[in-house]
Amino acid sequence: NGEKPADRNIREVVLGNIQFDTWYPSFYPEELVGREVDRLYICQWCFKYTKDRTHYVSHTKLCSGQHTPPPGREIYSHSLHSIYEVDGEEHQLFAQNLSLFAKLFLDNKSIFYDVTSFNYYLLVHTFTSPPSTPQIIGFFSKEKMSWDHNNLACILVFPPWQRKGLGKILMGVSYELSRREDRIGGPEKPLSELGRKGYMQFWQARVARAVLGLKSKSTLSVGEVSKLCWMLPEDVVAALKEMGVLGAKKRADGSAILWKARIREWIGRYGLDVEPRTSEDGFLEVWEPGI
Ligand code: COA
Ligand code: NA
Repeated sequence: NGEKPADRNIREVVLGNIQFDTWYPSFYPEELVGREVDRLYICQWCFKYTKDRTHYVSHTKLCSGQHTPPPGREIYSHSLHSIYEVDGEEHQLFAQNLSLFAKLFLDNKSIFYDVTSFNYYLLVHTFTSPPSTPQIIGFFSKEKMSWDHNNLACILVFPPWQRKGLGKILMGVSYELSRREDRIGGPEKPLSELGRKGYMQFWQARVARAVLGLKSKSTLSVGEVSKLCWMLPEDVVAALKEMGVLGAKKRADGSAILWKARIREWIGRYGLDVEPRTSEDGFLEVWEPGI
């Protein structure tokens, strides 16, 4: 995952029973965890933390999170995945602890602006082997009121579960939520390197599906694609440029020509399944992740 800065205050974490390295420093209170810790134990249900293994073991025996669903309300469920919507004001301690944990993998300080003005969308997975209670394996945060088209503030799939297509599920949820608000939106910029890679792949496939789903048109403007995909025009353009399917010449109104044949070629190269797939309750269109 590229260069990890040396100023991390916590070297590794144990989440539930999985141990992994951190990437960035976080703002855990020094009086509780010290200035530098080798290993921090984090509760997989409530995200409380301790550097003391004995405290951790006794907490995990008592934590009510293991018997109850995650906080908030379930807004989506499909096969082994659910999304829970958590109001940062109603669940302040949870939101703060989740943010402290997330900061270990984010180079961006804005995750710490007042949790009460954000909602958190938890990606919850039910593991079947061994059978266990549902576990939070990623999330994104969203400002309750955004004046600048942001439909997502921070996104994180916890490192042990990255690169399995789960980021795409969260991105899909963020666009579905803004679509329901009747708003064209996108993630807060600037994106991290991984954020950019993930979004680029997601945007390209989204644009490809939408365009190829239209039978009658041979050309489309960026503005039309933006409306079809509920994506910001600048994100549409970024995706199209990366795909190499945009005509070089701009039209008089500033729109550009989109070559459907080249999109088909792109899909051929990447072997994407472009059939629009709607889950049974019609909530999302996502790929089945390879988890
Ligand atoms: N190297 C290269 N490309 C990568 C990559 C990596 N380590 N991780 C993801 N990608 C690209 C790939 O194109 C991938 O598609 P592919 O696997 O079919 O090739 C695509 O992104 C989507 O991957 P996906 O499995 O859906 O992503 P993810 O579940 O790992 O989640 C993030 C993506 C951004 C949420 C995740 O990388 C993450 O949590 N990063 C740390 C936090 C962060 O930087 N967040 C964004 C800033 S707020
Ligand atoms: Na699924």
